[in-house]
Amino acid sequence: MHVGPFRRMANVNGEITPLEDARISVLDRGFLYGDSVYEVFRTYSGVPMFCHEHFDRMDNSARLIHMTISQSREEMLDQMRRTARAAEVPASQDIYVRWHVTRGTGALDLVPARDLRSSFVIILKEVPSWNPEFYSRGMRLAVTRVRRNPVEALSPDIKSGNYLNNILGVAEAIELGADDCLMLNPSGIVTEASNSNVFFVIDDRLVTPSAKSGVLRGITKAAIQRLSAEAGFSVHETSIPASHLERATECFVTSATREAMPVASLRLENGAWRELPPGGGPVTRRVAQAYKQYVDRYVRENSLLRLL
Ligand code: PDD
Repeated sequence: MHVGPFRRMANVNGEITPLEDARISVLDRGFLYGDSVYEVFRTYSGVPMFCHEHFDRMDNSARLIHMTISQSREEMLDQMRRTARAAEVPASQDIYVRWHVTRGTGALDLVPARDLRSSFVIILKEVPSWNPEFYSRGMRLAVTRVRRNPVEALSPDIKSGNYLNNILGVAEAIELGADDCLMLNPSGIVTEASNSNVFFVIDDRLVTPSAKSGVLRGITKAAIQRLSAEAGFSVHETSIPASHLERATECFVTSATREAMPVASLRLENGAWRELPPGGGPVTRRVAQAYKQYVDRYVRENSLLRLL
């Protein structure tokens, strides 16, 4: 990965500016109510990883909040390419792309006007550089008192512009001396971290919370489930009560920007810390390596998707 200089840029409904100069209307429903959906992907050698899957998930989030996206996928990809050109991103540079689609700008009214046209904002910047210790040793996750939104209220499967639940979770985790939260649902079942999915080895089985537990259907998570099955050890999507964490022997989180990141310490509900293998146990390391190899394959097979 080459890291060279380029300008962080934003694109608001087609207007491209340096990120710090980008402006939206105060009447934008995304700003007023969090009435928006968003996605994040990163590129590898210019290729947006899981591009179609991210657009599919955005369509699903929009469907779940009854929002119509006015911009086509092709239009949005074209706007991303324009933004990358304006940022003068070197062809070999990996970038982070985040795009929000809001229900639009209108009257101060919870009820959206019928003729709203959705607005979009694209943010293009460098890929986050995580604390290297998160990989060499592993993150610290704490089970928080803040519970994940129940599926029946605001389904975590909607990747919306309202992340207050996640913000409260991670803030509490930091207070508890951890790096991120491990949120339970209102029934005490494990869900996910603030912006990543979780996997555990419990009783020698690789397990991850089921969609029913209340999690975002992670795209990295789905890839890791497929890769693990190919490698001969299947992942069990299941309901994981918080008490089972006392038997966890490995844990890792997954996301577009973290890939597979080991967890070295888990703070349980009773306040005890459970220490896990530094740098990840054998399953975590195998999964992380399989994911990296898959990324190389994906980039080779999807070079036509290049943003740069
Ligand atoms: N976060 N769960 C939540 C709540 C998330 O926000 C994310 C993604 C994930 C992992 O999904 P994926 O593997 O598709 O990235 C799980 C992104 C990276 C973000 O908001 O920055």
